[in-house]
Amino acid sequence: MIQQKIRVLIEALPYIKKFNGKTFVIKFGGSIMKNEEAKKAFIQDIVLMKLIGINLVIVHGGGPNISESLKALRKESRFINGLRVTDKETMNIVEMVLAGQVNKEIAFEINNQGVKAIGISGKDGRLIRAKKKYIYEGDKKIDIGFVGNVEEINVDFLYDLIEKEYIPVIAPTGFDDRGDSYNINADYVASAISLAIKAEKMILLTDIEGLYKDINDKSTFISQLSISEAKELVSQRIIDGGMLPKLECCISAIENGIKAIHMIDGRKKHSLLLEIFTDKGIGTMIRGGEQ
Ligand code: ARG
Repeated sequence: MIQQKIRVLIEALPYIKKFNGKTFVIKFGGSIMKNEEAKKAFIQDIVLMKLIGINLVIVHGGGPNISESLKALRKESRFINGLRVTDKETMNIVEMVLAGQVNKEIAFEINNQGVKAIGISGKDGRLIRAKKKYIYEGDKKIDIGFVGNVEEINVDFLYDLIEKEYIPVIAPTGFDDRGDSYNINADYVASAISLAIKAEKMILLTDIEGLYKDINDKSTFISQLSISEAKELVSQRIIDGGMLPKLECCISAIENGIKAIHMIDGRKKHSLLLEIFTDKGIGTMIRGGEQ
């Protein structure tokens, strides 16, 4: 028993050394945010990592909370290609829920544990400049309202917060020069921020275990893969349809210089610690070029 405890702690040592002073961007996603137990474990993991000396930036989602609020207001949620059609009224609710409720709650929980966190949206400190996104079906251009892509990240603002030991907790909304707000996919925001601040890792916490070669066969779980293997999964359409955009987003992030991306199951308690401080991890790790 004692031996085992020692082994666990010593296994963590090289990773504590390696990641001290480095920056990780963590996306805390959608439906796991409704799971109180998993959320509590997530906050503990964040606090522990920060105290070990890892700089953290958190980007959160909030889809289910938004749908719930829209439903309470009797407003239908409509999706095209997985993107929420966002009219002005919906955007107001998105901002209220994401940047108001969800964002402040996560930041508050971290602060409550004695680690400094600050909840902001992409509109604070001109953090995320956005550009309206259209969907194309053949040559048809579809307007889905106030949905955006990231155009520019204000890195100086993030560096200032990180330097002062704050964990920025970011709601994925953006602004443009006309003063409009945009709803942006949290995976894209996490990857744009990771690239802009040259993060050591991007970690996507979702409600899947990671990647499988065959989603129906648990023995085909992929613990780690190189960028060329990831591309092969995409080109051969081995990966399940819903995972495809996520994997493509990861591939482009790695190609642009992120060293490693981890996809881990946020429903499993302390999956973050298990992934980062053990040799085998628990999820799927996509390695960048030189690793
Ligand atoms: N803890 C190490 C790291 O964060 C290794 C993680 C391995 N993970 C995996 N899914 N195979 O770099």
